[in-house]
Amino acid sequence: MTKPNIDNKKILVFTGAGISAESGLQTFRDGGGLWEGCDVMEVASPGGWAKDPGHVLSFYNSRRMEAAQAQPNAAHLAVATLEKKYEVMVVTQNVDDLHERAGSTRVIHVHGQLNFARSCVDETLIYPIGDKPIHLGDVCEKGSQLRPHIVWFGEKIHHYDVARDFICQASRVLAVGTSLSVYPIAGLLKKARGRAEKIVLAPDIEKKPYGFNWFRGKATHLVPIITERWLSGLRVDQLK
Ligand code: OAD
Repeated sequence: MTKPNIDNKKILVFTGAGISAESGLQTFRDGGGLWEGCDVMEVASPGGWAKDPGHVLSFYNSRRMEAAQAQPNAAHLAVATLEKKYEVMVVTQNVDDLHERAGSTRVIHVHGQLNFARSCVDETLIYPIGDKPIHLGDVCEKGSQLRPHIVWFGEKIHHYDVARDFICQASRVLAVGTSLSVYPIAGLLKKARGRAEKIVLAPDIEKKPYGFNWFRGKATHLVPIITERWLSGLRVDQLK
């Protein structure tokens, strides 16, 4: 199959919990992160939901409230400015809506969204709930319990094909604040083109994805520098 042409106007920004850390939201795997001292499968798997839905609802009700109170930071805002000159797709593993509130208009949530609830019997029944909690007994129009609109371990991620088609055409790819440890989405970066300018930004990473430059530091410091360069039509390699 022939590959699509690279489009100089297209930028894919791939984000994880680290971009929202400086907005006060905990990451998952850093020291003191959400998964420290927490059995992931109890709150983020269909088995955990079957065992104790009340516990799962309470976990995500807290996350939803925290996310609603957080504000977009300089990194989210800088990503949004790229739309002044480029066609940008933000592919985020985050379940908060800080990219949207910063002004990004094309945001793909591959792991779901806190501010939606969905039916347990029909995954096409999705309801906006803002910052409101979901309680046991809250039901969809088919009478079945509502659950968080979150992708749990073992469930299919959302919109992967849309993200893959875009990254294949992107001339610039920026990955920010992700440990790249959760598959299949971490494998998306392998689809970036050899000729594209590719950057991964985080204080620490275990393994740099092939062909990417690693910028070591915090999102609010480095993302605005990178986006300024791109808005000026420049590469960012020399900043290292
Ligand atoms: P992780 O907690 O695994 O990784 C967060 C990354 O952000 C780490 O590489 C940190 O070094 C980096 N980081 C921390 N502070 C930062 C800052 N101020 N600026 C830039 N980077 C910073 O979070 P994710 O990779 O997003 O899935 O986790 C992926 C998935 O694992 C989540 O979507 C979630 C979780 O299980 C589900 O719940 C389905």
